[in-house]
Amino acid sequence: MAKKSILDFQSMIRKGEKIVYLTAYDYLTAKMQEKAGVDMILVGDSLGMVCLGYDKTFPVTMEDMIRHCQGVRRGAPETFIVGDMPYMSYQVSDEQAISNAGRFIQEADSDCIKLEGAGPRIISRVKAINEAGILVMGHIGLTPQFMGQLGGYKAQGRSAQAALALIKQAKLLEEAGAASILVEGVPAEVGKAITENAGIPILGIGAGSYTHGQLLIYADMVGFYDNFTPKFVKKYANVGAVLTQAFQDYAQEVREGKFPIDAEHTYKMKDEEVLELAKILKEQK
Ligand code: KIV
Repeated sequence: MAKKSILDFQSMIRKGEKIVYLTAYDYLTAKMQEKAGVDMILVGDSLGMVCLGYDKTFPVTMEDMIRHCQGVRRGAPETFIVGDMPYMSYQVSDEQAISNAGRFIQEADSDCIKLEGAGPRIISRVKAINEAGILVMGHIGLTPQFMGQLGGYKAQGRSAQAALALIKQAKLLEEAGAASILVEGVPAEVGKAITENAGIPILGIGAGSYTHGQLLIYADMVGFYDNFTPKFVKKYANVGAVLTQAFQDYAQEVREGKFPIDAEHTYKMKDEEVLELAKILKEQK
C-alpha cells in the first residue's frame, strides 16, 4: 500500500474513517506494524522508558531519537512516520526548534514532527517549524514533558474550565499551522469537544472514542512494558509472558545439555574433513 500523506489523513477524517496510530521504536516492530496496515507510526520519546529503562522522558536526546527513527523508517518504508521532539530540543528558540525538526526529516526520513504544549513559546515554535515546510503535530492534555507542572502523569481537562482551556489550546495550535494534534489523557467528552471544534485530524491516546484516530504505546498494548499500565490501555497480547517463558525454556535446555542438538542446530562438515581433522589432531598430540 502507498504511504499515506497529510492529504489522505484529511480525506479520511472527512469520510469518518478512523486513523490507526501506534508507537514503534525499532526496525522489527515497525516492519510488523506496516504489515498490519497501521496508518501512522510515532517514534515517541517514550522510548526512554520502553527501550532505555528510564522512568521518564527527560533524558532522551536528539541522537537517541534520530537513531530510533532511522530504524523505524527502514522497517516501515511505506508508513507515515512522526518523530517526537525530545525535551529541550525545541524549547530554547525557534532556530533550535527548526534545526532539530529538520534533522528528523533530513537524517531519519520522518514525515512529521511532534512537540508538546500550546503556550506562547510553543505556538511560536509551531509557526516557525511549519513555515520551514515541516509538518507539525501538536500534543496537548497529559504532556509528559510538563509533568513537573502537571504534578505527575495525571488526567487533564476534568473540569469545565480546564476542558475549555484545552479546546482553546487546540485552536491556537491549528491557527499556528499544526497539521494535526494528539490529545492525551482527557475525558471522552473533552476529546469529543476538541475533535468537533477542529479542522485538522485529532488523534487521541486515552482521550475517548470520538477523536479522528487512536494512538497506543505498542509496548503497553502487547503486554511488553509492564512497569506501569495506564487505565486507557487495552492489552491485545501478552508478549512479555511469551518471551519470558521462551527465555526460561532456553536457559533450562542449555543447562540440561538439551540445546543445541548437533544434528539439527549446527553446520555440517564433510566426512573426509572430519577424518582429516581427527588425524591431524592425533598427530599433534
Ligand atoms: O512519547 C510518546 O510515545 C508520546 C505518547 C505518550 C503520546 O508522546
